[in-house]
Amino acid sequence: MSEALRVRRCGRLAAVVRVPGDKSISHRTLILAALANGESSISRLNLGRDVEATVDCLRALGVEIDVAPDVTRVTGGAHKFTAPNSPLFCANSGTTMRLLSGLLSTMPFASTLAGDESLSRRDMKRVVEPLTKMGAQIAATNGRHAPLRITGRPLHGARYEMPVPSAQVKGALILAALRTRGETTIIESVKTRDHTERIVETFGGIVFSEDYRQGSSISIPGNQTLVPAEVSVPGDFSTAAFLFIPALFTPGSDLTVKSVGVNQTRTHLLDVLRRMGARVRVENVDESGVEPVGDLVVESSRLKATSVSAAETALMIDEIPALAVIASQAEGETIIEGCGELRHKETDRIAAVAENLRAFGGNVEVDGEDIRIVGPTKLMGATVNSFGDHRVAIAFGMAGLIADGETVIPDPDVADISAPGFWNLLA
Ligand code: S3P
Repeated sequence: MSEALRVRRCGRLAAVVRVPGDKSISHRTLILAALANGESSISRLNLGRDVEATVDCLRALGVEIDVAPDVTRVTGGAHKFTAPNSPLFCANSGTTMRLLSGLLSTMPFASTLAGDESLSRRDMKRVVEPLTKMGAQIAATNGRHAPLRITGRPLHGARYEMPVPSAQVKGALILAALRTRGETTIIESVKTRDHTERIVETFGGIVFSEDYRQGSSISIPGNQTLVPAEVSVPGDFSTAAFLFIPALFTPGSDLTVKSVGVNQTRTHLLDVLRRMGARVRVENVDESGVEPVGDLVVESSRLKATSVSAAETALMIDEIPALAVIASQAEGETIIEGCGELRHKETDRIAAVAENLRAFGGNVEVDGEDIRIVGPTKLMGATVNSFGDHRVAIAFGMAGLIADGETVIPDPDVADISAPGFWNLLA
């Protein structure tokens, strides 16, 4: 157990910082490199606990991975995969479990994916159901929960309309589709993060995609062979977003977060903040890599409330805890609609956000799937109840930087799940 972290109001933030590599992109790059025939290199891999779970599972499957802070090397190829001797432990990482369920369904051996207590409570039916449509054989507890016992076998393509927006489910289906007979089509009513699609193409694979006003349709031909690649992982936008809290509300602040992923399927928070009156901008955009990268510049601002629709919430699902803290400092009532998916994260993030924001003196109501926050309120430091959730701990650690008095985070190490070294960066 780590020691409790104590946080007090910060002074003017004038700095240029970098955040750890993007977690979503790191998982996918590792898995696709593991499938590609030969040696791939990955720079700025996220070295947090979730991505570590993906590394451990791939190693247990026979893939050679040499992890280093600068360049990680993966020697891959589908033929390298061998039956694991024991259950593959995905720890707290939903992305690891869901993505690997797709890939392992196609392998010529049996495997089991297990997780910690939180992951074992999360819904896996959302991947089991579509993969079963493709011919997969997966036994889940009560048809819904880990451990997932997978009997790998040849699959066939399918057409699937996603009932809930989920990039993890889409990613699982794409990984399965690459190794099945025939074509797979996935239809989304809200286009979720498209990292899997982009990274598949970087490794020489093919994904046909068509975007509509909000949604998208993608088709993946079967039986694809991937080739190695060199990937540079951009900084994690979702981690950078937490730094907006002290930068926006500490007078005179001017913060630059360098080289962050600015893929439009991840940055909707910037649009919402701009309409609230925030001075945020993206500079030095570089589109030459796997993903667009840019510098985020945030200056202290006065914010007014806004209404966020359910479709918008789906586009910034990981940023809602940060947005809730931000809304507590904006003038008027902010309504964040359609937050139901937050109940299915590492913890029930609606309940966790409401409980912590109230403990800080915030004015927050939960109305079904909607969160209503009236601001501005003067926040008072409190003891954060993270519920073991990295994004809850970080969001309210940031609230402590703009609150009176002292904030205590009893379990600061939980931040290492997605943002290793985050508190040191802040110091
Ligand atoms: C992720 C997708 C999101 C997000 C999670 C990472 C991914 O989950 O909340 O932190 O890497 O695909 P869902 O797609 O299940 O909403």
